[in-house]
Amino acid sequence: MTRILMVCLGNICRSPLAHGILQSKLSDDSFYVDSAVTAAYHIGNSPDNRSIKVAKTRGINISTQSARQFKVLDFDAFDYIYAMDNSNYTNIISLARNSDDIGKVKLFLEINSDIANKNVPDPYYGELSDFEYVFNLVDETCDILADKLKG
Ligand code: 4NP
Repeated sequence: MTRILMVCLGNICRSPLAHGILQSKLSDDSFYVDSAVTAAYHIGNSPDNRSIKVAKTRGINISTQSARQFKVLDFDAFDYIYAMDNSNYTNIISLARNSDDIGKVKLFLEINSDIANKNVPDPYYGELSDFEYVFNLVDETCDILADKLKG
């Protein structure tokens, strides 16, 4: 079983999309995908309605997810930890205990060589179109990631 964790600031906009989209491209038998948050504002909350809506129109149900805080034990529980932006990356790295922990953490968009800006933009203060942009960016990057993971 390969375990992948998606992390953003609120765990209500970007990482729930990355979680649901990647999960939809991998078999449950071999892969476990989850998401978590580095800030405490939205713990226990469902994803943002705009993320739920955009995912639903593309056939992915993320409405049952709930935000949970990233914890140090996630370094043991997961093989790959993907940060949605540089700030999330720094927050996760600040909790790392050793070089093995640090080695598991990657900036999600590093996988996608077509994209110059390696930060998934935070759509929280934006419009539905910003969520659609994030969906498409995450979807195309998860295609690349799923192919890599499937080897
Ligand atoms: P996310 O977006 O990190 O993609 O879930 C955010 C959601 C909420 C807030 C910030 C970013 N917030 O400040 O409440």
